[in-house]
Amino acid sequence: MTGVAGRRVVVAGATGAAGRVVCAALTAAGASVIALGSDDSRLAALAAEVPGLTVETVDLADFAAVTSLAGRTGEVDGLIHLVGGWRGGKGLTGQSDEDWEFLSRSLITTLRNTTRAFQPALLASPNARVAILSATGVDRPTAGNANYVTAKAAAETWLAAVAQSFGTGAPDTAAAVTFVIKALVDEGMRAAAPEKRFPGYTDVQAVGSAVVGLWDGRAAELNGTRVSLVPVED
Ligand SMILES: NC(=O)c1ccc[n+]([C@@H]2O[C@H](COP(=O)([O-])OP(=O)(O)OC[C@H]3O[C@@H](n4cnc5c(N)ncnc54)[C@H](OP(=O)(O)O)[C@@H]3O)[C@@H](O)[C@H]2O)c1
Repeated sequence: MTGVAGRRVVVAGATGAAGRVVCAALTAAGASVIALGSDDSRLAALAAEVPGLTVETVDLADFAAVTSLAGRTGEVDGLIHLVGGWRGGKGLTGQSDEDWEFLSRSLITTLRNTTRAFQPALLASPNARVAILSATGVDRPTAGNANYVTAKAAAETWLAAVAQSFGTGAPDTAAAVTFVIKALVDEGMRAAAPEKRFPGYTDVQAVGSAVVGLWDGRAAELNGTRVSLVPVED
């Protein structure tokens, strides 16, 4: 049993590659998980895969809907935000407004909504953690990825503000952490390309372990940190 045992943790974007593994890891470690997504059938498949989960269908880009859900959810000790999506284009002129709207909505708006809606519950928790999964591309912006890395940088900045709020509102009980990866790899990707190496890719299981481990450290030491999950051997 770890520090996360007995905690109530919300996973936003639970049906993606990382979300499914994070839900399973948290549940196996004894947490009570509330899995959020916008697609009923994908959530039903996740519930069958990870028994014991509570699933909630919600459009995380809709602040009123997220606030209503947070009100119904009650006590919460964690929010793991894993809503993703990628759009790229050829050079700077290939960065379309349509792609920016999509990325802004999925990477920034859903984070703003969930952190604002669950903030009262997180501040009331004796041991709260919030985490996002950002990208190494933020450190090396390219023209073809400009929309994506700008949205990811904004998400990191928002989370730094969440960390600041915890430092004053809940010192040493709440922490917001940015994990950083280049890309994810899972069993399915490895099975589909057995000869392929995935240099610099982070195994989704490592994301699950990192999230579970958030409750093992002191909040004051974790709060506001940016932690690389890129494998060192690559
Ligand atoms: N995959 C990578 O290689 C990679 C690389 C760098 C960083 N990351 C980051 O790692 C995190 C996890 O990535 P991932 O690939 O596992 O995620 P993902 O599959 O892109 O997205 C996770 C889930 O978010 C849900 N979602 C999207 N919009 C939503 C909305 N408006 N309301 C509710 N749910 C919504 C979707 O579930 P529903 O279908 O149920 O709506 C989707 O399955 C993301 O933050 C991503 O940016 C990933």
